[in-house]
Amino acid sequence: MSRLLPFPIFPPQASTLAPRTDHLLFYLLAMSGLMSVLIAALIFYFSVRYRRRPGNERATQVDGSNRLEIGWSVVPLVVFLFTYVWGANVFFFAYTPPPDALELYGVGKQWMWKFQHLSGQREINELHVPVARPVKVLLTSQDVIHSFYVPAFRVKQDALPGRYTEAWFEATVPGTYHLFCAEYCGTLHSGMIGSVVVMEPAAFEQWLAGGATTSPAERGLQLFQSLACNTCHRADALARAPDLAGLFGRQVHLKSGAVLRADEAYLRRSILDPATDIVQGYEAIMPTFKGLVTEEGILDLIEYIKSLGTAAKAEP
Ligand code: CUA
Repeated sequence: MSRLLPFPIFPPQASTLAPRTDHLLFYLLAMSGLMSVLIAALIFYFSVRYRRRPGNERATQVDGSNRLEIGWSVVPLVVFLFTYVWGANVFFFAYTPPPDALELYGVGKQWMWKFQHLSGQREINELHVPVARPVKVLLTSQDVIHSFYVPAFRVKQDALPGRYTEAWFEATVPGTYHLFCAEYCGTLHSGMIGSVVVMEPAAFEQWLAGGATTSPAERGLQLFQSLACNTCHRADALARAPDLAGLFGRQVHLKSGAVLRADEAYLRRSILDPATDIVQGYEAIMPTFKGLVTEEGILDLIEYIKSLGTAAKAEP
């Protein structure tokens, strides 16, 4: 069921999440509608049936009925639990990107969406993705809160300054779909729109190869050298800071005794607020790079660090 209604109240269903979300929505609508009609009908029926009549001015006293009370407690409980399990199921599906998802980066800024493919392609207010393949977008913002919203995919995820959030989807129908910013972000919020182009895998590969410039990891390496990170982060005896090879995904033991996992948020924090998490055995000598690197630059650096080898993602 890929076509819904003949009139355009609903956006097309173009992702694996879309039918799941819609079925749940229709079920909730049907249940609420049914209950509203039932209650309205009963109010009407009772007010007629038990209306005041001459010669019978007093109501009959009704004592409790266990059967009735158990009935109206257990039936809603079962209905609500059913709803809860269904909702939780859709929720976990929507927020758990498959491990084999194609990764890319998205940065929101006043007032545009910038996307970065790991092969090097960069785009603004356009996002090309292959059909029938899970895609994970790691989102952040350069300034204020934005929200990545693709109605046809039923995907909406805030892009927050200073943090990374994830949105994932698997497109099911090739085509071009609306991309919106769904969080008021200033004067041109309404102009912060674009399109997601879902392509057949072969066409997508061709498109990717078309404009391949330097990859984020390569740009990250250039940045790493131009910011002179490599004078301290090195593998030899002159190293005054941790070697970054194989760091991503690994556990990091801090001076404070805490143990962290080296994920994107950790790397970003270490670049901008190096004093926060001092690694065991090292001194707090690293300066902050706040204001010196853009959000995209940080993503490039993260890609470079990932390219130095990553620990297995499954590691606890
Ligand atoms: Cu960005 Cu609204």
